[in-house]
Amino acid sequence: MKVIVKDDYEKMSKEAANMIKEEINKKPNIVLGLATGSTPVGMYKELIRMHKEEGLDFSKVTTFNLDEYVGLDENHPNSYHYFMKDIFFNHVNINMDNTFIPNGKAEDLERHCKEYDKLIEKKGGIDVQILGIGENGHIAFNEPDKELNVGTSVVNLTQSTIEANSRFFDSIDEVPTKAISMGIGTIMKAKKIILLANGKRKSEVIKKLLKGDKITTYLPASMLLLHSDVTVIVDKEAYNG
Ligand code: F6R
Repeated sequence: MKVIVKDDYEKMSKEAANMIKEEINKKPNIVLGLATGSTPVGMYKELIRMHKEEGLDFSKVTTFNLDEYVGLDENHPNSYHYFMKDIFFNHVNINMDNTFIPNGKAEDLERHCKEYDKLIEKKGGIDVQILGIGENGHIAFNEPDKELNVGTSVVNLTQSTIEANSRFFDSIDEVPTKAISMGIGTIMKAKKIILLANGKRKSEVIKKLLKGDKITTYLPASMLLLHSDVTVIVDKEAYNG
């Protein structure tokens, strides 16, 4: 696990965007795995700037998002579909037909999950996967538990994740309790993984992860210790607490 510590959120975001830019330049038809949440917003902002000012070309890029809430329509302002369009897709020259996000309104959710994994494989697998991390160590919505899902699955969100995500909703009662999430196996199949974390509230979990001596399903991010190409980019606050 390679660790890069940057002074602040902006520098962390720029580092991540630079890595992605290099990868796109190497392989214009790259398959990117994308995350939502507040952590990658600065990275998306920088990628948009690179597109507008430096001509970074997304026209051949394919993307797969990690997760989506079950039950939210894609036009719901709190859906991850909406988030991705608003924060990123609408501002670059990506072909929307090449962007994939689990459908939280699919009629047969189980079947949809299996098809999502198959589609990732059909597109050649994820070249670079961007991840955030929950304070409880979740990656995507793989929550700490006695077992973890291998493939994309429907998952129950923990109370702590519901509480953390309630900041985006009018009230906690509106936060969905289920999501579709890539499984740990889906994530681990990515050729390269970049995990981002910023701010004091992530310092405990980053400390545990970077200790790097044990893997446990109770710290889902610890599974990444088994992957051969993971870069963790953190700001000083997440690194030092
Ligand atoms: C989002 C996702 C989540 C977030 C995590 C951190 O697609 O999969 O695992 O990365 O909850 O969220 P933020 O960045 O809001 O602290």
